[in-house]
Amino acid sequence: MTATLVTGIGELTTNDPELGRLTDAALVLEGTRVVWVGPGARAPDTDERVDVEGRTVLPGWVDSHTHLVFAGDRSSEFAARLAGQPYDAGGIAVTVGATRSAPDHVLAATLRRLVREAVNQGTTCLETKTGYGLTVADETRSARLASEIVDEVTFLGAHVVPSGWSADDYVRLVCGEMLGAVAPYARWADVFCERGAFDAEQCREVLTAADRAGLGLRVHGNQLGPGPGVLLAVEHGAASVDHCTYLTDSDVDALANSDTVATLLPACDLSTRQPLPDARALLDAGATVALASNCNPGSSYTTSMAFCVTTAVLQMGMTVDEAVRAATWGGARALRRESGEDAVGVLRPGARADVHVLDAPSVAHLAYRPGVPLTHAVWRAGRRVR
Ligand code: NIG
Repeated sequence: MTATLVTGIGELTTNDPELGRLTDAALVLEGTRVVWVGPGARAPDTDERVDVEGRTVLPGWVDSHTHLVFAGDRSSEFAARLAGQPYDAGGIAVTVGATRSAPDHVLAATLRRLVREAVNQGTTCLETKTGYGLTVADETRSARLASEIVDEVTFLGAHVVPSGWSADDYVRLVCGEMLGAVAPYARWADVFCERGAFDAEQCREVLTAADRAGLGLRVHGNQLGPGPGVLLAVEHGAASVDHCTYLTDSDVDALANSDTVATLLPACDLSTRQPLPDARALLDAGATVALASNCNPGSSYTTSMAFCVTTAVLQMGMTVDEAVRAATWGGARALRRESGEDAVGVLRPGARADVHVLDAPSVAHLAYRPGVPLTHAVWRAGRRVR
């Protein structure tokens, strides 16, 4: 196996508590793994060597919340929103119609294009959800296509109630035949707990059925107003509750005293004209925070994790280090992939060799130079992909 020494690292963020942050550092990648991390002066000899000439290195972004299996465009809905129309998730039905009509190769091409776009900006681990099919066949197809292309697949049959169904009948379908058909392609199940989507009781049914089927749990909660999503997620031991735009003190408290990650989606809040979530309250209380893009054609059409980090720093009171950690280690934790075999979001011996090189002397430049494309090079599982 060829080993590659990445040397000349001006600043190295490892997210490893023992290694911390290093300057004048080096890394060795072998196969799909990191095998050595340390001071450049003590780096071992290897077959190949890449000098990054003083640039910054950090783990690749871990984007733990996207909806990339879709067809169609909702830019006119976006324009209407800018003209004052509120976002109420009603546009999901438009994407469901377009997605159902699209052939497999069109869905796969869009998915690959967006993954490519994300990788080019430093994303090396990506989760995506179903949720624009909402029939047994369309949800299964979405999960199957996603499982061929992304790292982590989430079943979101309980996105909204499709037209022609009563909520109760649809929840029965989701918890029965649909779950059975999709589960072989998915590691996670999610539910949209919101007025206009699913209420607490319906969410409980979905989460209980998914847990019984052996899937890990995630929840879309507290996006458009206060609600029971966060507490439900904590009660069911979900790996994450995503959005968290409207939190009460008891939501913050519950998150701080649980293993459930609060995944914040600032690009979505900006695009839907919601307030930005109170990241400071969560961090100060001791909750684990992740940042993710929520890339989807309705509420957040961006693959840029750097944009999320910049926004978190400039507008949400997170420090650069907190935001970078939330977009790497936090995302990995939200996917329960921060440790063990194939760990992501961290650069230590044994972790997956997911390396992001910034054309900057420090991670602070992500906020200091907003909007500037700083990604210089990317390795994913040891392979140079940019
Ligand atoms: O996370 N909240 C629900 N689902 C997506 C929105 C999907 C859409 O509008 O198409 C979200 O924002």
